[in-house]
Amino acid sequence: MNQIDIVGLGEVVIDWVAEIPHFPKPDEKINALSENIFPGGVTANYLVAVARLGGRSGFIGAVGSDPYGDFLISDFNKENVNTNWTIKKKDKKTPVNFIFIVKGEKSIIQSPHMLKTKVEISDIDEFSLTKPRLLHTTMVHQDITEKVIEIAKKNDIKVSIDLESQIAQSGWSNLKKMLLKADIIIPNKEGAKIITNSNTPKEAANILIKKGIPIVIITLGSKGVLLTTKQHQKMIPAYNIKNIVDTTGAGDTFNGAFSLAYWIKKWSLEKSCKYANAAAALKIQQLGARTGMPNEILLTKFLKENDESFFD
Ligand SMILES: Nc1ncnc2c1ncn2[C@@H]1O[C@H](COP(=O)(O)OP(=O)(O)O)[C@@H](O)[C@H]1O
Ligand SMILES: [Mg+2]
Repeated sequence: MNQIDIVGLGEVVIDWVAEIPHFPKPDEKINALSENIFPGGVTANYLVAVARLGGRSGFIGAVGSDPYGDFLISDFNKENVNTNWTIKKKDKKTPVNFIFIVKGEKSIIQSPHMLKTKVEISDIDEFSLTKPRLLHTTMVHQDITEKVIEIAKKNDIKVSIDLESQIAQSGWSNLKKMLLKADIIIPNKEGAKIITNSNTPKEAANILIKKGIPIVIITLGSKGVLLTTKQHQKMIPAYNIKNIVDTTGAGDTFNGAFSLAYWIKKWSLEKSCKYANAAAALKIQQLGARTGMPNEILLTKFLKENDESFFD
């Protein structure tokens, strides 16, 4: 069996992306500036970000029995993401998300099939045999996520959680069983605020650390990230990018690059955050969640040109 360093549990979807000049009013018809179909899904994007940078990643999750599902699996194969635990569900549809981009900023309408097209524990009960060092999850399917986190903990696999705002809306009491087992959580600003009911990222991070989560990194878009542990709290600024084309997948790229740097290469927290900010900075200059995700050569070149301190 192939060795995998990082497994991701969560969603893989089709992104149907239209750039539009503005949102149409009811009854208005407008022309899109572009229209494309891309492979997407927060967890799947994350795993591709890891693989592009040379990490060995694998996807635990499901697609539907339709051409979209075949396309997503063949794309994983092309990207070198392991599909041992990627299940094709009979009688289920592959989710399609609708993404509208106005001046580089994304708005996403999520598919109702996302919740129904999922793996069962019986599909994947032996994933730990691949001996991954990290499990990363978005907790989209809570029942299965709780079970997989338990397996991870028993097998000494670290647990990383990305908390998107619509998952955070299910509330601390529904999610705490999973969140309290995390070795790290990396929400964006919205996710962090919602789960802690707080007004600022600092307050949110402090609350999560007090609950016992060892590392909290809150991503703050163009501002970068707020890194918090029990011992310290620090802003790691984003790189200054003028040509922002599409921020879809920025967080996923950050997470993937960070996981590889910190958990697999064993770099420091701060250096790993800089590396991940740089990966996301390259991503947002291209259309589509995965198009701009860099390989190691492009990322090193960007860091040489934009941050000499990285190599100190
Ligand atoms: N406008 C931007 N300029 C530079 N970097 C950005 C920008 N937007 C996002 N990023 C990078 O992507 C990371 C994640 O973006 P964010 O918007 O916080 O997450 P999400 O995509 O999950 O909403 C940021 O921490 C930063 O490194
Ligand atoms: Mg995100």
